[in-house]
Amino acid sequence: MPSPISFGILTVSDSSYAVNSKDLSGPKLKEEIFKEFPSAEITRIKIVPDDLHKIKATLTEWCDMKINIIFTTGGTGFSSRDVTPEATLAVVQKQAPGLTIAMITNSLKITPMAMLSRPGCGIRDTTLIINLPGSPKAVSECFGVIKEALPHAVELLT
Ligand code: MTE
Repeated sequence: MPSPISFGILTVSDSSYAVNSKDLSGPKLKEEIFKEFPSAEITRIKIVPDDLHKIKATLTEWCDMKINIIFTTGGTGFSSRDVTPEATLAVVQKQAPGLTIAMITNSLKITPMAMLSRPGCGIRDTTLIINLPGSPKAVSECFGVIKEALPHAVELLT
């Protein structure tokens, strides 16, 4: 039997960092992960502000722990504080544009606002990092698009 997939959930949001209870997307993601992968291990959960250095530091630390998949939520938009994709692309060694294309293509069938998200996805060592937008609705929609491919992605990386 394959070992359970380990996940990290990183919420990137100035407001959720300031008031922890405002984070609805991290808990939503956790719920979606367990629904799809009942034996999953959520190894790390954290909230950081929209700060390039803090995001990069957390991503590299979690990749060093050999977490299989890190999801970020938030900070993919157009505002000046949105730097999650920049932090992600700074730490990955390979990009995974197929995941980005799949999420955007399918999200555009739901809302034209999907074109305002700039998710970066890629691989650092044996970890897959996937940026999701910041609303719980967007988290569910985007996770739904890529979930089927995740076990094979992990198999290929480990
Ligand atoms: N994608 C999906 N599937 N569903 C959504 O509701 N919202 C969009 C977009 N992507 C949305 C979505 C909106 S309104 C914004 S502003 C961008 O994601 C960026 O969100 P973020 O800055 O919270 O990451």
